[in-house]
Amino acid sequence: MSRDILVTSALPYANGSIHLGHLVEYIQTDVWVRFQKSRGAHCVYVCADDAHGTPIMLKARDEGIEPEALIERVAREHKADFDDFHIGFDNYHSTHSPENRELSELIYNRLQAAGHIARREIQQAFDPEQQMFLPDRFIRGECPKCGAADQYGDSCEVCGATYQPTDLKNPVSVLSGATPIQKASEHYFFQLGDFEAFLHDWTRSDHLQDTVTRKLDEWFEAGLKDWDISRDAPYFGFRIPGTEDKYFYVWLDAPIGYMASLQNLCARRGDLSFERYWSKDSTAEVHHFIGKDIVYFHALFWPAMLEGAGLRSPTAIHAHGFLTVNGEKMSKSRGTFIKARTYLQHLPAEFLRYYFCAKLSGRVEDLDLNLEDFVYRINSDLIGKYVNLASRSAGFVHKRFGGQLADQHDRPALVQHFVAAADPIADDFEHLRYAQAIRRIMALADEANAYVNDRQPWVVAKQEGRDAELQAICTTALELFRLLTLYLKPVLPVTAGRAEGFLEIPPLDWQALTADLTGHRIGKFKPLLQRIEQDAIDAMLAASQQDLAAAAPAAKSTGQQKEKQSMSEADEIKIDDFTKVDLRVARIVKAEAVEGADKLLRLQLDVGALGERQVFAGIKSAYSPESLTDRAVILVANLAPRKMRFGVSEGMVLAAGGDEGNGPFLLAPEPGAKPGMKVR
Ligand code: 2FM
Ligand code: ZN
Repeated sequence: MSRDILVTSALPYANGSIHLGHLVEYIQTDVWVRFQKSRGAHCVYVCADDAHGTPIMLKARDEGIEPEALIERVAREHKADFDDFHIGFDNYHSTHSPENRELSELIYNRLQAAGHIARREIQQAFDPEQQMFLPDRFIRGECPKCGAADQYGDSCEVCGATYQPTDLKNPVSVLSGATPIQKASEHYFFQLGDFEAFLHDWTRSDHLQDTVTRKLDEWFEAGLKDWDISRDAPYFGFRIPGTEDKYFYVWLDAPIGYMASLQNLCARRGDLSFERYWSKDSTAEVHHFIGKDIVYFHALFWPAMLEGAGLRSPTAIHAHGFLTVNGEKMSKSRGTFIKARTYLQHLPAEFLRYYFCAKLSGRVEDLDLNLEDFVYRINSDLIGKYVNLASRSAGFVHKRFGGQLADQHDRPALVQHFVAAADPIADDFEHLRYAQAIRRIMALADEANAYVNDRQPWVVAKQEGRDAELQAICTTALELFRLLTLYLKPVLPVTAGRAEGFLEIPPLDWQALTADLTGHRIGKFKPLLQRIEQDAIDAMLAASQQDLAAAAPAAKSTGQQKEKQSMSEADEIKIDDFTKVDLRVARIVKAEAVEGADKLLRLQLDVGALGERQVFAGIKSAYSPESLTDRAVILVANLAPRKMRFGVSEGMVLAAGGDEGNGPFLLAPEPGAKPGMKVR
């Protein structure tokens, strides 16, 4: 029986354009879906716009239009961008839809009936002029730690401190400039802690990448907190059943949007049913592809909500890293914050698809788009190795044999060798090791070109009486090209379609491995792809700079959706920021396991003149407590004490890595360094 798979990518917010950072995920997911379909799986890929929330409401207000008009316009733009990048959704819907309202109410009502929703009053910042509560990002003021002016309500961009909006000095509302007041209102909370045992098992049962499980452990150890799922009016979203002026927080109905999109598709497709994917006893697989910044929502809240509502939980969450361009965060001023549409105005979508795949490892790592390497890789791999193989052979077949291929291959063993590569390549695609799959495919392309160089059809073509040999060489070369096309098709669906066109063969899928071109007649070769010239890159960067100059004012007035529990890398810092960190040599006096914590050790440290400190460190997987006594380590000595379930941690010891399944590795000074010494 073939696999039955539902696949989703994260829903993009309906208040901004798709950019190349987003596309890492959509391309990663689309390639996986195309691969599954090629292998004969029954696979359905759904997505939607994430249409609710304060920023969307305020952007519409800024533009003087209704939120419905804004989300409709943005949805059109998003769909066009996805289409042009060949993202083959089976359905693209919206969270602002009747299906999503119904499903959100259903899930909420079930959670409520099962006693998982609590209500209590909380105090929040309120804009007295706009008469609305303010999300943290809509309050600015002076940082309570370093005094920097004009900082957000949740964190300081100068010193990196995080705090409550009430801690800001001289706070103002971004919307009106008024001083926010504190106002009480009743909020609804999802009691995540009710699912601690379930989540503990679920996060350790092969649904997540190891790095993600380890990250979640930190959150587990900090304790699972109630999640505030309500927002007061005015808010653009769904009203909570049984209330007059409370709305579901955007993140409550966003993942339910995956289901809503499927539901909407089921209404059009008689062969699908909602229950087939979501009932508790479903045997289908459900795969969510997401960025590393939204792991908390997908690996904790979402499975807990599903469990609480009596629905099945996902098969797998696949998290990826962020995009950097030329080794740095995408930057508006450098022109490297590139919108999908701007890219498309200068370059073919498939080049980006290929380049991203050539770099995607399946791990939660950032991916770099190095533009120089991009030009080189595309021209060398796609044009020089892949397209060239066909153009070198097809011309002879057309001119000399009227398109007719030989009845026998010149090198059947080489063809067999290409067919035998299918399993390892499939295994790489299956496990999202696309870079490895591409390396294998390009190694085959090298072998194919070496074969042609060795057999020199252009020499054979000039010699009398060697026609049959020439025809057989070209037949083998085109067979190798056909197999390379089959392997590359999930990545390059349009080029593969063109290749199928000139080869005059039915659409390639994994079944076509056993097909053969011998005795077949092909059509006239048409160029498949053109080289990239540096000019196109330069023009794209210049256009991106202009785009963002034009967009800047709107982004500032409404703020961005930034309400996330981030796993992301730190932003760039100044030397002054770095010197604020007080690093000291410390000696471990005593180390011991912590009852009830899987990963933590309690360390008693001697920090010389600074006295003794207690620190909890997540190093238990790599060190036994006994092995640590008297070891020297590096301590971040001025980290604010953190209250943990097991006691207060007074600093942090530094350790390297641990992302590859090994480590962590404690950092230590050379022998001779004394406790309390400063590290600089
Ligand atoms: O982070 C984001 O861009 C969200 N709009 C993703 C939502 S994914 C899902 F939960 F809906
Ligand atoms: Zn600060």
